[in-house]
Amino acid sequence: MKSIALSAQSERMVREQDFLVSKTDLKGIIKYANQPFIEITGYTERELVGKNHNIIRHSDMPGGVFKLLWEVVAGGDEIFAYVKNSSKDGPFYWVFANITPSFDANGKIIGYYSVRRMPKRSALREVEKIYATMLEVERQYPNRKQGAQASMDYLLNFLAQHGASYDEFVIAL
Ligand SMILES: Cc1cc2nc3c(=O)[nH]c(=O)nc-3n(C[C@H](O)[C@H](O)[C@H](O)COP(=O)(O)O)c2cc1C
Repeated sequence: MKSIALSAQSERMVREQDFLVSKTDLKGIIKYANQPFIEITGYTERELVGKNHNIIRHSDMPGGVFKLLWEVVAGGDEIFAYVKNSSKDGPFYWVFANITPSFDANGKIIGYYSVRRMPKRSALREVEKIYATMLEVERQYPNRKQGAQASMDYLLNFLAQHGASYDEFVIAL
């Protein structure tokens, strides 16, 4: 079973001084990756550039987080998010990402930019709990899209109960 194999994965740490950068087109196809980003993914630059950013997606990540991410950035705003990723060679790694749209001179979105840093360990304990519940919500739906919508709604509802916007909540962790 996949879950058993996943539990055996080891963790790779982002170094404190590193900024992991990638740029994508409007569809999330990787156009640029810096050296620290390339290194931690275990892929080569050639393997990353031109691929969908979901190449490093980890199955512990709820679809609802990515749905929210895309809604926010496609709407022209920035978002902060804790993301668990998979390396090509097996280990997972956590990042704290800031994702922003890039605009042309007319204010049209022409791509997206993500800068990731080492996450706070104390925050990860909270995030892991929320993401695990979001995944449980998603499992109740046979359809991936509906599951992502439901788990995003769960997250937004959770935030409303805590009286915080998503960014306020994530930054305060
Ligand atoms: C700039 C940018 C950076 C992204 N970085 C990641 C990332 O590090 N890991 C990830 O799994 N998805 C990332 N995504 C989201 C992916 O595009 C995708 O929505 C996500 O992996 C879920 O893919 P799936 O629904 O095809 O499984 C990023 C998107 C953008 C626009």
